[in-house]
Amino acid sequence: MLSPDLLHNPAFPRSNAYDPGFVLDGNMGPHPLWLAEWLLEALEQDPDALGPEARVLDLGSGMATSSVFWARETGAHVYAADLWTSVDDAWRRIEQAGQATRVTPIKAEAHALPFAQGFFDAVVSVDSYTYYGADLLYLFYLARFLRPGGRVAIAIPCLVADLEDGRVPAHLLAPQENGAVFWEPECISFRTPAWWRSVFEGCPGVEDVRVDTMPEGWRHWRDYERAAEAAGKNPFPSVAETLDRDQGRTLGFVRILARRTTRSAVNLYDPDLAGKVLRR
Ligand SMILES: C[S@@+](CC[C@H](N)C(=O)[O-])C[C@H]1O[C@@H](n2cnc3c(N)ncnc32)[C@H](O)[C@@H]1O
Repeated sequence: MLSPDLLHNPAFPRSNAYDPGFVLDGNMGPHPLWLAEWLLEALEQDPDALGPEARVLDLGSGMATSSVFWARETGAHVYAADLWTSVDDAWRRIEQAGQATRVTPIKAEAHALPFAQGFFDAVVSVDSYTYYGADLLYLFYLARFLRPGGRVAIAIPCLVADLEDGRVPAHLLAPQENGAVFWEPECISFRTPAWWRSVFEGCPGVEDVRVDTMPEGWRHWRDYERAAEAAGKNPFPSVAETLDRDQGRTLGFVRILARRTTRSAVNLYDPDLAGKVLRR
């Protein structure tokens, strides 16, 4: 039995109400509830953003931990869409968390989302968008699933500033005592807040872009890694040592929010696009 205080963090009071066992049994990376709570705090600045009538897409929802949070905190109906996990695992967790009437797990690939255009009031995503959203064209595709005025809210690891001479700092490449190396090849999609701002501001499908970084984000990340490791619940070797070495000089979390415009685009990921264009 884990201590109920294992993940207690005064910066995230809502997350503190969730069972650490529930969070850690679905562990796939940084604490998904802390990231979701950070997004919710920003979305709530607009009272119309989310509520029991809302339909929310939780994109890259993993083991549906954040999906349960969105449902429980807002009353919205949440579609937990994920690629690598099984819907059976997600559903078991959703049922155990008492959110079976509000959360629907769906196996989905981010470029082939099985939803109607304009279906969602919000698309939220924690620790996932780096795997597909760094494609400059992706956001315009994603925006099609939002109603005009609907929100997109993303929280992901980031570089807090441009890398000097574009080089990855040595301390992110050096093996830790446990043998793990923080900087995996996919970290090339870790970008700065300014970079994400330019991507979002350059997309005609969204407007009203807001970008910021999490205060002490690296510290929260490290502390969660340490807690997960202490509980024996890390699916990968902990990267706490590197985060501690870095002290937030390079790594942190970025939050990006925007609102859908009325502009839409052709679906560039439609495998039959050429056929449709030629048949016109
Ligand atoms: C590091 S895990 C985080 C999962 C979850 N958001 C969390 O915080 O616990 C990244 C998630 O992104 C999802 N993902 C990556 N590429 C994807 C894609 N192309 N389409 C849909 N989901 C994707 C994976 O399935 C995985 O669950």
